[in-house]
Amino acid sequence: MAELTPLDEKLAEVLGLAQAAQQATKQVAGMEGAEAFKADLDRMSDQAAQTEQRTDAYIDTLEGRKTAIREKARETKSEAVDMMKTYLEGEEEALDGFEFLSMAEAGELCHWEIVQVIAFTTEDAAVKDLADWAVGVQREHVEGVRRAYLDLAAEEAKEMTSA
Ligand SMILES: [Fe+2]
Repeated sequence: MAELTPLDEKLAEVLGLAQAAQQATKQVAGMEGAEAFKADLDRMSDQAAQTEQRTDAYIDTLEGRKTAIREKARETKSEAVDMMKTYLEGEEEALDGFEFLSMAEAGELCHWEIVQVIAFTTEDAAVKDLADWAVGVQREHVEGVRRAYLDLAAEEAKEMTSA
């Protein structure tokens, strides 16, 4: 298998995480009490698909390494999906779903910031442009998930006090 650079490995990870994020947002959208957040979750899922496409289009330009990068991305995706299944096993409520998404989206932001710093430092303009865009998208995702779990927590509290 081709020798990957540290940046190649990070690109594989963000690609795998973007694939897993599409699955996670869809899963949470189907949980109890998620109706009010359906539009946000759909947008997050669309943006994850866009992130996947843009990242993969760049990887496609890396002759000799793209197959190995995509292979590693598949591993990352399956690890992330396994984590989701473990965390959400037996859970039905959207609040639990958003707790999981808070970790998943923060993880995506972390990985894209790492890509951004490496690309900036190595003066890789194409990857830096992609990372600048993706970091902005991920900050919105982290903030959107936070709004959702705080809303759901407030609802939960209201139900407790009116019981
Ligand atoms: Fe995301």
